[in-house]
Amino acid sequence: MSTLTSNYDPVKYKTPTGSKLNCKGWIQEAALRMLLNNLNPEVAERPDDLIVYGGRGKAARNFEALDNIIAALKILENDESLLIQSGKPVGILKTHKDAPRVLISNSQLVPNWANWKHFDELEKKGLMMYGQMTAGSWIYIGSQGIVQGTYETYAAVADKHFSNLSASCHSDEGGISKTSANSGSLKGTLNVTAGLGGMGGAQPLAITMNEGVALIAEVEEWRIDKRIETRYLDEKYTDIDEAIDSAVRYKQSGVGKSIGVLCNAVHLLQRLIERNIIPDTLTDQTSAHDPLVGYIPHTLTNEQANILRTENPTEYLHRAYESMYLHVQLMLQLMDKGAITFDYGNNIRARAKEFEEKIKNDELRMMNERPQSGDLIHNSSFLTHKFKPGRCFDFPGFVPAYIRPLFCEGKGPFRWAALSGDPNDIAVTDEVIMNMFPENKGMIRWMQMAKETIAFQGLPARICWLGQGEREKAGLAFNELVRTGKVKAPIVIGRDHLDTGSVASPNRETEAMLDGSDAVADWPILNALVNTAGGASWVSLHHGGGVGMGYSIHAGMVIVADGTDDAEARLRRVLRNDPGMGVIRHADAGYEIAKDTLKKNDLDYKQKLG
Ligand SMILES: NC(=O)c1ccc[n+]([C@@H]2O[C@H](COP(=O)([O-])OP(=O)(O)OC[C@H]3O[C@@H](n4cnc5c(N)ncnc54)[C@H](O)[C@@H]3O)[C@@H](O)[C@H]2O)c1
Repeated sequence: MSTLTSNYDPVKYKTPTGSKLNCKGWIQEAALRMLLNNLNPEVAERPDDLIVYGGRGKAARNFEALDNIIAALKILENDESLLIQSGKPVGILKTHKDAPRVLISNSQLVPNWANWKHFDELEKKGLMMYGQMTAGSWIYIGSQGIVQGTYETYAAVADKHFSNLSASCHSDEGGISKTSANSGSLKGTLNVTAGLGGMGGAQPLAITMNEGVALIAEVEEWRIDKRIETRYLDEKYTDIDEAIDSAVRYKQSGVGKSIGVLCNAVHLLQRLIERNIIPDTLTDQTSAHDPLVGYIPHTLTNEQANILRTENPTEYLHRAYESMYLHVQLMLQLMDKGAITFDYGNNIRARAKEFEEKIKNDELRMMNERPQSGDLIHNSSFLTHKFKPGRCFDFPGFVPAYIRPLFCEGKGPFRWAALSGDPNDIAVTDEVIMNMFPENKGMIRWMQMAKETIAFQGLPARICWLGQGEREKAGLAFNELVRTGKVKAPIVIGRDHLDTGSVASPNRETEAMLDGSDAVADWPILNALVNTAGGASWVSLHHGGGVGMGYSIHAGMVIVADGTDDAEARLRRVLRNDPGMGVIRHADAGYEIAKDTLKKNDLDYKQKLG
């Protein structure tokens, strides 16, 4: 029996690198290395609690479960599969060589019980774990994993709103009324958001890569410092006004810079309103999906929040909801004054709506009747504003606003990591990708920027959005690199669950589907089944990722290119079928781009019917 550990031990849990196996095959070895890589302190947000990112998104339920997973992976045969139930190993069963070596189910609850309250009770009893998306499916690669998606989103914002236009500089204080924005660039724009955690930490770099100014509220100083150390963020301020002044100066001079300010998002937005400085774009990436653990109310300091969360969770939740409601109301006010506002996948709109539905109408009226004072927000439990009920969903989610056309082409966050641990292996794959798709100019621009600006966290890894047909080609090319010894060890290939065909999440990936099928969750389940049938190396099915309990069902898959013929056959199947599910799902919902992609890639079963 392994010794139990209560805290993360960097020596014991160090990710193996190199070409020597610790397991009985490269697939098991890949699972072992990626699990430990998820928890590497360079990668994970809070390894001592096994938390990887996204509020309380964990890689294993507890340290005993972690030790048992590691031990099980080491003895797992090449015709067996390890079963993981919410972060705990529960069995090793005979399967076959092409079956996934690991099958994972995280945070699944029967729909009538699928809420945080029930989950929290089970978690307290040690019966469940929140897997988020890539945390519990062992394919998180640090903030890099989301930076291209965030970069693409802001590029789409720039194309849609600032292309060949003069970007309005709304600031009264800024002293300029108009700045000329480059086509498809955020140059000369002020982009306000909050949250510098695992995913949100990608925002500053994604904004400056698009040449904009980022102004980001974050309540925990170590998170700001971490983003500066990893070169995702340029500057830190502890005074809100100084941070705003600096951001306005950079905006005026058209210099792309990112500023982290140590404060609550609510306080930053309130101050912007008081000074009548209207951001060009506005969003949020605090962990609002998890009101108890992920969102810090503006009426509490971090220390007070930590105490209240354990001593009186009901009061904590009330304050968090109240604060998120206010947060959304302030976003709406700024939107009404001209800020391009969107929800960035944390479900904050739904939290505000839940609060609004809970409070009685006369409470709302009483709030509206309280005197207006800018100071109130800093001191009392609630700010007075003229709230108009029923507006929480007045700004769109980022998927319908900017990303869905990519999903229709099967495009999504394809990623890979070098199991050797050698950054040169990633340099070799970078060259292959850039030579393979010369026509994909946007992707090449991204790859060049990524090579220059992204610091690896943990195992060297890369992300790049590829579509139907492209992913299969890339996977086969990587397998060839391993076969011919051009890289030092196998390459592991995966993706986020936030992808074209792997998620049902009505407030995020499947918001406002053309046919109204937002909440239909057959699709991610079919995705997990087809990836299992196709021979992915490990497959996971999760609940609640991104947006919280009750709001999403989603599937993950990872596949190892180990240079063998078996891997080649599996890669051909899985990397065609996995994005193919997304093309089929969007074509079924009626999207024309998806219907075209379906036909071009021979995915239309009706054509086979003759
Ligand atoms: N849009 C996407 O592509 C995408 C992808 C993954 C996750 N998400 C969602 O984005 C959110 C953030 O993810 P993450 O991995 O960064 O989470 P995280 O928990 O690692 O980080 C959240 C950060 O928000 C800060 N914070 C909390 N309340 C705050 C407040 N009121 N004001 C200022 N800062 C506050 C926390 O200190 C923390 O640093 C989650 O809800 C996640 O589900 C979005």
